[in-house]
Amino acid sequence: MSDRTDEPCVLVCVTGCIAAYKACEIVRLLQKRGCRAKVLMTEHATKFVGPTTFRSLTHEKVAVGLFDDPEDPIHHISLAQEADVVLVAPATANILAKMAHGIADDLMSTTLLATPSPIVVTPAMNVGMWEAPATQENLETLRRRGVNVVEPGEGYLACGDVAKGRLAEPEQIVEATLDVLARSSSPDAKLLAGERVLITAGPTHEPIDPVRYIGNRSSGKMGIALAEAARDMGAQVTLVLGPTSLEPPRGVTCIPVETAQQMHDAVIDAFDASTIVICAAAVADYTPAHPADHKLKKSAEPLDSVELVQTPDILGEISAHKGGRRVIGFAAETDRLLEHAQAKLERKGCDAIVANDVSRADSGFGSDTDKAWWVTSDGAEELPTLAKADLARAVLRRAYDL
Ligand code: CTP
Repeated sequence: MSDRTDEPCVLVCVTGCIAAYKACEIVRLLQKRGCRAKVLMTEHATKFVGPTTFRSLTHEKVAVGLFDDPEDPIHHISLAQEADVVLVAPATANILAKMAHGIADDLMSTTLLATPSPIVVTPAMNVGMWEAPATQENLETLRRRGVNVVEPGEGYLACGDVAKGRLAEPEQIVEATLDVLARSSSPDAKLLAGERVLITAGPTHEPIDPVRYIGNRSSGKMGIALAEAARDMGAQVTLVLGPTSLEPPRGVTCIPVETAQQMHDAVIDAFDASTIVICAAAVADYTPAHPADHKLKKSAEPLDSVELVQTPDILGEISAHKGGRRVIGFAAETDRLLEHAQAKLERKGCDAIVANDVSRADSGFGSDTDKAWWVTSDGAEELPTLAKADLARAVLRRAYDL
């Protein structure tokens, strides 16, 4: 970590791309926002911008070759450890491929492999290279490992195309970097390191026929907030996500599902590897017994009754086999909240229930805040009305302490 000053240290890794000159602006903006910027360049990057430019901007030595610094024979390790965040800007297809595959054949790739700090990559390349399955798969691998990707924009590319591949705007890159820095320096940043957190989120859709389903009003916001918070607290996160219009968070493994049965199967698959399980999904309790394989026509096949059967109780089933895992459920209630939550805790056999008062305007489906109680066999703890992100952290801290 940065020890020369109190300013957070951003190691800006510049690769060989025409957008390398924009790294000068990025360095300036980082400095304006109170960061110390150090620059590491690949040999190819020096063909686009000279190290002297960065040296003048940063008043720091610019690192290029593995053996360039005679005073520091293991320069990649000191650079890797000194950085509070590593920003690869611009990131070529080549450096993304090296990072995805653990190739360490120069100062930059060895530093990226060695760093314990969060990494932000900002790809910039020709559209064909951007769209190539190899690049997209490499990016997916990096995202899964928690690398933050600032997607390129669309516009005029050096090759003459007008398409996706242009380096994102420097301001956007700096915002994303500061955001990662803020998350990684929060007091909870390492609390869940080593934990594997499995979360269910969103509604389920139970098909009546290929176009109709039984669903509910869950937005998935709470489960997604939990997944983001757990990731930011250092956990490896698997999110089993029902149908929602919201994007799954970056840096978590997302398993999209539609039905309660699919959610059940995905949870059972991931359960053994998990250490904490949080069931935040609003799972449909009933599903049509015989979904039609074609769209039912109201004139010929009136929908005046649908035979329903119960769905598997995911929380109940995993609680019965939880071993050393901590298992937490949610209860969305409109009346006699604590009484229902206590009964649910006992019936499901989980370690805690987050009881949510969905009768209030500031709580429940679709809202950005929640009024909740943390209910365990020791009693009920009232939490203040919190933004979902804050409630997520409060729940995870308590889950960790169980
Ligand atoms: N849950 C689950 N599988 C189900 C139903 C619910 O895992 N088939 C989980 C939810 O994710 C939540 C908790 O159980 O964590 C409570 O959900 P809720 O629908 O309130 O529970 P029910 O058992 O359906 O209780 P109720 O009698 O209130 O309908």
